[in-house]
Amino acid sequence: MIIVCDKCQTRFQLDVSLIKKTLFKVRCSKCKHVFSVDTSPKEDVYELTSSNIAPDKKVIAICNQKGGVAKTSTCLNLGASLSLTGRRVLLVDFDVQANLSLLFCQKNQPSFYEVMQKEADILKTIKNVRPNLWLLPANSKMSLLARECLQQKDFGIFLRNALEPIKSHFDYVLIDTPPSIKFFTPNALIAADFVIIPTQAEFLAMNGVMQTESIIKALAKTRVLDYRVLLTMYDQNNTASKVVFSKLKTRYKDKMFTTVIDLDFKMQESQIVNEPVVYYDEKSVSALQYKALVKEVEEA
Ligand SMILES: Nc1ncnc2c1ncn2[C@@H]1O[C@H](COP(=O)(O)OP(=O)(O)OP(=O)(O)O)[C@@H](O)[C@H]1O
Ligand SMILES: [Mg+2]
Repeated sequence: MIIVCDKCQTRFQLDVSLIKKTLFKVRCSKCKHVFSVDTSPKEDVYELTSSNIAPDKKVIAICNQKGGVAKTSTCLNLGASLSLTGRRVLLVDFDVQANLSLLFCQKNQPSFYEVMQKEADILKTIKNVRPNLWLLPANSKMSLLARECLQQKDFGIFLRNALEPIKSHFDYVLIDTPPSIKFFTPNALIAADFVIIPTQAEFLAMNGVMQTESIIKALAKTRVLDYRVLLTMYDQNNTASKVVFSKLKTRYKDKMFTTVIDLDFKMQESQIVNEPVVYYDEKSVSALQYKALVKEVEEA
């Protein structure tokens, strides 16, 4: 078992089989600090490792108030692709539709709502869903949040406050948001260091990108929030899509990811069997594209 001194952060290897108790004290040989070690079984064990991700893009919100543009699919597959490279990734389902939670078969689980009501501890609410991949589930009670908590003074920064003490456990935190600009999306944007705006190559979808961009710019009065537009479900054989893609490139230039996610039926198949496409068919077009996106996100 690895033990980390909570004063000087030195890591030690300890053979706990030689110790007959589950709760005992140890002394750090480096700084002489004495601290307690608890080896009793826990639901989830979060190893405290330092992260080498730039702190200015650790928390990524995936937003577009237009529905059905692949926000959830991007959160799931970018998160899974990052986790496959060894990154420790937390996915936050911040949408009362709870689609991301359903894709991991986490229906009606305690969510951010119970955490806000102090009925659940956030670390105990987070579920380990795949190696290196965790989920903070959503449930339908989250729709009560906006009504019940409106009077609270930190209403607009609920998510940021909730993530602050736990984000050091993860390399990346990806937030899936609903197709709306009420409560959840602004809260996610305030919690975020970086934003991904997925969009289809459709004329009306461009409007959703512009609206999201204007909220980001409004927030920019208080701090810098960088973003990239991601083209999703792109059909290379559709002339109208090609025209919209070219308009998007002209307008967003280097604010667009070079990686494009093609329309790929493997994506829909993977969701039927509750698997990220990068697990379901790692050689599929969309799986390879989400893996390519990892590199761009890390370099953005
Ligand atoms: N690359 C793709 N190829 C084909 N289908 C896709 C692709 N990406 C997503 N889809 C499908 O598009 C639909 C909408 O995707 P998704 O739920 O991720 O969108 P969303 O933006 O999260 O929607 P909402 O706004 O309702 O939350 C889903 O049925 C999904 O399977
Ligand atoms: Mg969604």
